[in-house]
Amino acid sequence: MSVKGPDSELREMQTDVGTDVERAAQLLLSGRLVGMPTETVYGLAADATNARAVAAVFESKQRPTFDPLIVHVASAAQLGDVVAEIPERAVILARAVWPGPLTMVLPKRPEISDLVTAGLPGVGVRVPQHPLAQELLRRTGRPLAAPSANPFGGISPTTAQHVVDGLWGRVDYVLDGGPCGVGVESTVVSLMSDTPVVLRPGGFPLEALERLIGPVERAVTDPNRDDAAQPAPGMLSRHYAPRTPLHLLGTDEQAVTLSGRRCGLLTWGAEREQPGFERIIRICEQADLQICAANFFAGLRDLDSAGLDVIIARRFPDAGLGIALNDRLQRGASGIVE
Ligand code: TXA
Ligand code: MG
Repeated sequence: MSVKGPDSELREMQTDVGTDVERAAQLLLSGRLVGMPTETVYGLAADATNARAVAAVFESKQRPTFDPLIVHVASAAQLGDVVAEIPERAVILARAVWPGPLTMVLPKRPEISDLVTAGLPGVGVRVPQHPLAQELLRRTGRPLAAPSANPFGGISPTTAQHVVDGLWGRVDYVLDGGPCGVGVESTVVSLMSDTPVVLRPGGFPLEALERLIGPVERAVTDPNRDDAAQPAPGMLSRHYAPRTPLHLLGTDEQAVTLSGRRCGLLTWGAEREQPGFERIIRICEQADLQICAANFFAGLRDLDSAGLDVIIARRFPDAGLGIALNDRLQRGASGIVE
């Protein structure tokens, strides 16, 4: 498919920020793009039934068209507008988790454009929990396609300001719903075959998912394959990445600076201060993974804009939200050879 080229009118846009839900709804209904707060991260929303608007999302983010968009609906009752089949597991998950940070990939209805699903037979759907997202979905009465509102591959936005920083002039209006409570993107689970497959760990913990629907498989990114040939779209090895090189540290490993380099530290827990770091961001004083997740992307952005040579980041315990956070760290750090 073709999206508009680099000198499209999109770049001429002004970006306003505010709390006017009606204005945001009217813009969406006229095919424009709106930054939408959700409990996970901010989305770059478009009317999912308007192919031109959906194309503008790909253009605005510079996102490759092989990477499909999540469709947001106001409630599970609207699932039938988007998907062709609702398996029992989807009913269980919708009841237990929605509204909330879980995206299900289900067989799409023919009306859902191939642009939204990147030509795949499944569509990713979720019901977001943020009250302004809910209000926007109710007022438009449309399903809203929304990827995270950041330039492709970059750090996801958890405040309206982050959206403006990344997409100024490429989104018409940003609805300011304050900082996102969850802070990490939704868990994406495919229910397209008999065994559920987690395509992305996220804000709904895998352990809780398995308690509800039994064992799930985890799709694994293959570093030897091209991005477009990964087992699932969007499983790019380098993603969620700061511009500054990122090095990872074990959960209990001592943080030391690299000699001759301006180092920043992203850490959590009550560890003693390390000398030599230019900047230290402790995203949580304890090991509370919910607080870590809520502050994670903002902390990474802060360090990324501090003019450092290297960001050193402490990994999280590999359980609950820590699995999603470690996934983001791993992708942010990959591809960097030091
Ligand atoms: O929390 C979230 O999920 C946020 C908020 C705005 O809802 N959205 C978000 O969207 O993170 P995005 O586009 O940044 O990430 C969506 C992920 C991508 O990895 C994409 O490939 C996958 O979900 N995905 C979406 N639709 C899919 C489909 N039909 N089949 C397989 N994977 C899909
Ligand atoms: Mg994203």
